[in-house]
Amino acid sequence: MLVNMKDLLRGAQEGGYAVGSFSVANMEMVRGVIAAAEETKAPIILQIAEVRLNHSPLALIGPLMVAAAKEAAVPVAVHLDHGLTLPTIKLALSLGFTSVMFDGSHLPLEENIAMTRQVAALARPYGAAVEAEIGCVGGSEDGSEDIAMRCTDPAQAERFARETGVDALAVAIGNAHGNYKDTPHLRFDILERIRDLVEVPLVLHGGTGILPEEFVRCYKTGIKKINIATATFDAVERSVREAYAAGEIKGYYDLHSAEIRGAYENAKKHIEIFATGGHA
Ligand code: 13P
Repeated sequence: MLVNMKDLLRGAQEGGYAVGSFSVANMEMVRGVIAAAEETKAPIILQIAEVRLNHSPLALIGPLMVAAAKEAAVPVAVHLDHGLTLPTIKLALSLGFTSVMFDGSHLPLEENIAMTRQVAALARPYGAAVEAEIGCVGGSEDGSEDIAMRCTDPAQAERFARETGVDALAVAIGNAHGNYKDTPHLRFDILERIRDLVEVPLVLHGGTGILPEEFVRCYKTGIKKINIATATFDAVERSVREAYAAGEIKGYYDLHSAEIRGAYENAKKHIEIFATGGHA
């Protein structure tokens, strides 16, 4: 069933777990992620970032994501990841997305607050949740830019949350998008200070490559939404490659099944680490 992201994150706060937010690019990924969620009885979030829409146009994949959420046997929120422009955010809201992110992390604080408030006003008539980012997560969602990481200032996070009224706040604590060059170690000292000052659920971007024990420490320290993108794309691609190598692909629909399997296995692995299973 299609649900509001606010309700999923409230459940995660009360239940002491995190909800996986899985990036998808086609129907096979949507079906694999939802199959993992249904099998484990886990609530999940389906998301797509604005920079990916050149491959998967929002007017096409958006209705698919919303329809798949409605059909699912578990609660599914549908989220626009890293919204950058107001027309895209408005289109996502009109298609029935139950959550949108505005990423103003590259803007000066005052401008980030002003723009986020504008997006919150747009989302309000739809009842959709709003996520924003403060500090700067390293890399970029599609790997096209090498953005330097800048850890979130806890006092700024408190002011940002109070003045914008966002429903979820993405923080930078040593995380970066894409595959890490070295094993990342997150700044739990900063996360604890943010958690003590900010009541809204916190979001961890750049989930690919974070150690399982660090994920667990994250969801015990206020992180309630964890974004996974690169790991999904890599798992799908690897699953297809392995199926070819094993001689399993005899025609198009074997390829289709291998894609679904890759997305399913990756989502299931993360749902287990995030302790989301059984909370649907
Ligand atoms: P990864 O590609 O590192 O998993 O990051 C996902 C993300 O944060 C999308 O917003």
